[in-house]
Amino acid sequence: MKKTQNLFNTWGKITGKHYTDKQWLLSKWEVFEDMDWPDEKVDCMLQTIQDGLQLRPQDILLDLGCGGGWILDRIKPLVSDVIGVDFSFEMIHHARDTFPQEKLLCGKIGQLPLGDNICDKVLCYFVFINYETDEMVYASIRDIMRVLKPGGRALVGQLPDKDLSHLYDKAKEAYLAHYLETHSEEKSLRDIHRIPQKLYDRKSLEIFLEQENIFYQFRDSFNPFYRAGQPETIPWRFDLILEKQ
Ligand SMILES: C[S@@+](CC[C@H](N)C(=O)[O-])C[C@H]1O[C@@H](n2cnc3c(N)ncnc32)[C@H](O)[C@@H]1O
Repeated sequence: MKKTQNLFNTWGKITGKHYTDKQWLLSKWEVFEDMDWPDEKVDCMLQTIQDGLQLRPQDILLDLGCGGGWILDRIKPLVSDVIGVDFSFEMIHHARDTFPQEKLLCGKIGQLPLGDNICDKVLCYFVFINYETDEMVYASIRDIMRVLKPGGRALVGQLPDKDLSHLYDKAKEAYLAHYLETHSEEKSLRDIHRIPQKLYDRKSLEIFLEQENIFYQFRDSFNPFYRAGQPETIPWRFDLILEKQ
C-alpha cells in the first residue's frame, strides 16, 4: 500500500494543477497529450454514478479516494453535504486548494478516521483498481459498510473483470488508434501501467460478500474510453453496489 501511496503523492507533485482537472485521474495519457474530455463524456460518467448511488438532496456523501476532488465538486450540488478522503497528502492538498470550504481528510480506506453510521452514500471510484491484495479489498468493504448509515448505499466503481480483461486491452488499443487520428504522433503515448491494476474475480467477491451478509449488486461500469457513438457502459469493468440494511 505504501508504494501506491508514494506513487500518488509523486503524481500529485508532478501534475500540480492537472490533478484537480477531471481528465487526469481517469485517463492520464489524455491529459498529458492535451486531449480534453468532452462535456458529453463527463456528463455520461456522472450520470452512471448518480444512478448507481440513487442520490437524494438530503444525502451526506462520502467520496473515498477523492483525488483532487473533481467528482466531489460536480456531485456536491445534488446532495446536502460532502466529505472527501484520500490517503495521498498531495491529492488532499490539491483538493483543498480548489475546494477550501469542503471537508477533506487524509486517511486510508480500511482504517478511515471516521465514526460509524455517518453518511448516506459512499462513492469509491477508480480506487479499487489500484489495490494490490484481496485483504485490502475486504478491509475496505468492511470499512465502507461501517461508515454507512443503515439504509445507506455505496458505489465502488470501475473494477476490472478478470475474465474479460482482454476486452480492456482491445478497447484501449482502439482508443489509442482514435487518439492518433486526431493528434500529432510526435508525442509518444505514455505507459499507463505504472501502478498495480488489480483484476477482480466476481465469484470470489460474491463469496466474501455473502459470508459478510452484505446486500450487493454488480452493474456494468462507465466506459472510460467513451466517445460519441461508443457504448456508455461496458461489461469488462463493473461497479459494485453495496447496501446497508
Ligand atoms: C485513480 S485515482 C481516482 C480519483 C477519483 N476517485 C476519480 O475517479 O477521479 C485513485 C485515488 O485513490 C487514492 N487511493 C488509493 N488507494 C487508497 C486507499 N487505500 N485509501 C485512500 N485513498 C486511496 C489515490 O491517492 C488516488 O487519489
